[in-house]
Formats: sequence, C-alpha cells, structure tokens
Amino acid sequence: MSDGIGHDRLKGLMARGTEFLGCEVAILGGAMSWISERNLVSALSNAGAFGVIACGAMTPDLLDTEIAETKKRTERPFGVNLITMHPMLSELIDVCAKHGVSHVVFAGGLPPAGAIDRVKASGAKLICFAPALALAKKLVRSGVDALVIEGMEAGGHIGPVSTSVLAQEILPPLAAEVPIFVAGGIGHGGLIAGYLEMGAVGVQLGTRFVCATECIAHANFKKAFIRASARDAITSVQIDPRLPVIPVRALKNREMESFAAKQREVAQLLDEGAVEMMEAQLQIEHYWAGALRRAVIEGDVETGSVMAGQSVGMVKEEAPVAEILGKLVEEAAHALERRSAA
Ligand SMILES: Cc1cc2nc3c(=O)[nH]c(=O)nc-3n(C[C@H](O)[C@H](O)[C@H](O)COP(=O)(O)O)c2cc1C
Repeated sequence: MSDGIGHDRLKGLMARGTEFLGCEVAILGGAMSWISERNLVSALSNAGAFGVIACGAMTPDLLDTEIAETKKRTERPFGVNLITMHPMLSELIDVCAKHGVSHVVFAGGLPPAGAIDRVKASGAKLICFAPALALAKKLVRSGVDALVIEGMEAGGHIGPVSTSVLAQEILPPLAAEVPIFVAGGIGHGGLIAGYLEMGAVGVQLGTRFVCATECIAHANFKKAFIRASARDAITSVQIDPRLPVIPVRALKNREMESFAAKQREVAQLLDEGAVEMMEAQLQIEHYWAGALRRAVIEGDVETGSVMAGQSVGMVKEEAPVAEILGKLVEEAAHALERRSAA
C-alpha cells in the first residue's frame, strides 16, 4: 500500500485483518465454485490480497492436486473453502492439513461435530460464515478464529438478510472478540472504508473478481457480467413449501426457469417417498453445481447458471487482479482521507 493519510488510515484499520491473514490488503477473494482455482487464487495472493480455493463438490484427490498446483504459483498464504455438508468433509480437512494450508473457511451452515476441532488440530485458522447474530455468537463460543458475514446482495447461495443490516447487528457486539470480514454487494472501495470504520477487519468480494484477466471463467460468462446491471442479478424462487431450498442469486436467464421445473421434479420424488429430505436437498445442490459448471466452463450462459451478486453492475471490463485490487484500495483510501479532512 502506498503512503498518504488515507492509505495510512486504511492500513491501520486493516491491521488486524492483514495480520490474521498474513497478507498486505485484508480483502479475501470469496471462494467461487469452478472459478476460484489455482489461477485466480494465486493471482489474488500474489497481488497482496488473499485467495481462497473453492472446494465445492471436489473429491479429496482433486483438492489435493488443486492445492499443490496453487502452491506452485504462489509462495504467499491462501485459504481453502469447504462446504460443511460435503460427505467427505473430514478427508478434505486432512488434505488441507497435509499441505499445511494456513486458513480453512467453512461455508454452508453449522459445521458437524468434530470438524472445528479437526481443523484447529491441524494448526490452521478457521473462518466460518455467519448469516445471523445468534449463529455468529455460537460459532465464536465454539472456538472459530474469524467470521465472514455475508448479506443477500451476494452472488451464489445467499441468506435472507442484507449486508448492511447484518453489519449493524453483528459488528458492534462481536467485532472486538474475533476478526470479522464483511461480504455481499461490495463493488467500490468507499464501502470497504465504511465497514472498516464500523469495526470489520476486512472484506470478502466474489463478483468483482470474476472478470479478472487471470480468472478462467469462459469469455461468455465474463461478457454476461460486463453487460449486466444490478437488477439482472435476481434470486431463485422456492416453488414448493415442503422442499426448502437455499436461494441462489444469478443473472436472469432460461436456466432460472428450469430450476422451477427441477424443484417440481424433486418435490414429486419426495411425495412419492422415493427420496428422503436430505437426498432431495443434495439433488438440488448437485443441480446447481452442474448448472454453474455449464456456464463458467462451457460458456453456456442461457441454460447454465450465471451466479452473480448485485455488484455485477459495477463490473465494466476485464482487468488484471492487481488493477482491480489497486482501484479498490485507492477508492477506500480516498474515502478515508475525505472523512479525516472533514
Ligand atoms: C459465481 C459464484 C460462485 C460462488 N460459489 C461459492 C462457493 O462455492 N462457496 C462459497 O462459500 N461461496 C460461494 N460464492 C460466494 C462468494 O464466496 C462471496 O462470498 C460472494 O461472492 C461475495 O459477495 P459479492 O458476490 O457481492 O462480492 C459464490 C459467488 C459467486 C458469484
């Protein structure tokens, strides 16, 4: 980070976050399935931020390769995001431990018994997503080292509450206890400055990094992001009250209609007793993983899922990670300088 009052203030406000992560700028590249792999993750860490591999539905062997390949591309720390409902969670934690991964991020709900201890026994720091104050308190009591609070403006699977409300509810009572990173809807550094001033130690962005030059997402996926405005990033609708599905935020397209049909199909299997609720929900998650892959890897942005947050409207062009990061830092420093002059 360069000098100046704004930059000094930014450095100071991010100090707990940068120390916790072991990087220069306390901005996590939020894990995005199929997207946050060796290239984007190493580019983020090399640029001074903190890349996080999205394990998604990977097997332990695939994760093993991805971590090894990322390590070949950066000597700086990076994290691994694991979904708590993954049936091989313990084995995935062991793969992270084998590689001495410094930070593990748990997404997708409360971790199963033993998972927190397993990560901590490996020496890694554990970061958990907290979608509500009560859950955040519970996670802190369970010994997690840091929290990500993510609001419904974000891309991908989302909770029901906005980032601004979560920040007001969770930062004042808990910011002194554990480092908290704020995520969801952040596209401009001015907002980063605001959350830091409220007590956050850093932020997590996903959508803003999709159009990084280093990101392997298909050109069609990136084009869809560059064309879209905030209102195009809509949420999936729950069709059947008996089948609770976690809403997903993605760009409006034909696939969003297919998801309604998929829900009807799975709800019917539930009615017929052909599947249990747990299996029904897993089928929905597999559906999303496949749909996202079609769009990200194959470039089918009509029948695939183009998951994106509302900040997509602020993505205007493809640019190297270092440039995107530099712009966010400049904007945040500028906002802090203006406020200190006022
Ligand atoms: C395409 C896409 C895929 C995502 N996949 C995951 C995932 O696999 N695991 C996860 O924890 N979060 C996932 N997220 C959420 C991001 O990690 C991050 O928290 C979010 O993008 C932050 O909000 P923003 O999109 O407004 O920047 C995904 C987001 C996007 C846009």
